[in-house]
Amino acid sequence: MKKQIAVLPGDGIGKEVTNAALEVLLTIGAQYNHEFEFHFAAVGGGAIDQYNTPLPEESLNTCMQADAVLFGAVGGPKWDSNPSHLRPETGLLQLRKKLQLYANIRPVHVFPALVNSTPLKEQIIKGVDLVIVRELLGGLYYGKPSGRSFENEQEQVVDTLFYKRTEIERIVEAAFQLAQKRRKKLTSIDKANVLSSSQLWREVAESVSGKYPEVELNHMLVDNAAMQLIINPSQFDVIVTENMFGDILSDESSILGGSLGMLPSASLSKSGVHLYEPAHGSAPDIMGKNIANPVAAILSVAMMLRTSFQLNKEAETIDKAVHEVFEAGYVTRDLAKGNQPVLSTNKFVSEIKERLIRNQAINNIMNAYE
Ligand code: IPM
Ligand code: MN
Repeated sequence: MKKQIAVLPGDGIGKEVTNAALEVLLTIGAQYNHEFEFHFAAVGGGAIDQYNTPLPEESLNTCMQADAVLFGAVGGPKWDSNPSHLRPETGLLQLRKKLQLYANIRPVHVFPALVNSTPLKEQIIKGVDLVIVRELLGGLYYGKPSGRSFENEQEQVVDTLFYKRTEIERIVEAAFQLAQKRRKKLTSIDKANVLSSSQLWREVAESVSGKYPEVELNHMLVDNAAMQLIINPSQFDVIVTENMFGDILSDESSILGGSLGMLPSASLSKSGVHLYEPAHGSAPDIMGKNIANPVAAILSVAMMLRTSFQLNKEAETIDKAVHEVFEAGYVTRDLAKGNQPVLSTNKFVSEIKERLIRNQAINNIMNAYE
């Protein structure tokens, strides 16, 4: 198989973690005879510095012509006080809009070797296996009016939480379809006791549920959900929620898997060009130190193989190698407990690559005897 992949490393640790993910992808390609061609493009703060825009036209074209997009992270203190059209994050928001990436899928997986790497108790973490389906093109992120103005001698600001029924329908549909392939339990999270957007959200979730009688739907208010995720996270299978709630709850949920550095994501479009991205940010404080956790980016690439290219076996091979590195007791700094051996980003990636190669050698020997 030959695939074209647009790679937008972005800012901060974005470069380090995408490099790690690409190394894993190249190893898999060599092992299974796939050719992955990488097309690098600028985005975020780096693009602002170089092209005076966070999403150059050329980067967008590179993405639109690719079979899939791998995205790193954007942002940093250097651009924090820029006006919104010159903020790194605006590049990502524009890219989501242009590629129509409406469904953001964030799976929280707990590697057994990491049950003690979280601040939560083992009995709470055990059995956690959930996916957040976050609406990605609406809500407060894109609603108009939005911005600052001056009236009656003082500054004022507005952000608008806007949704059309069809925008809610398509994300809820995506969540039901995912739940149907999993444990058939869908929790729709909203603030229907206060917000009219949430009241419509709840109504739509109820009406779509008629098409999926095997899936059990329940509703939860977002404040309660934030608490339930910490006291009883194993009650969740698939969660569906609007853009901002999903942003907040997914960072919270990542801690169940050990750290924010563990959470991969896929942003899906109807057109078929999907974007894969670690859910963490650019972490400028640890940039260039070779200590970032590359797992979220590596698992994002596994999601790409599975979702965009239907290469399930290859994706499983990656998941397994990551699992084995953790089983061997290795972690990156963000996950370390006590005197556990802490690996640099590069060393952690070498350990993964070593296992990918060793496992293939073992498989070859086994196959020869079958
Ligand atoms: C994420 C990030 C982005 C978001 C930022 C960088 C715009 O936090 O992907 O979760 O808020 O969606
Ligand atoms: Mn976020």
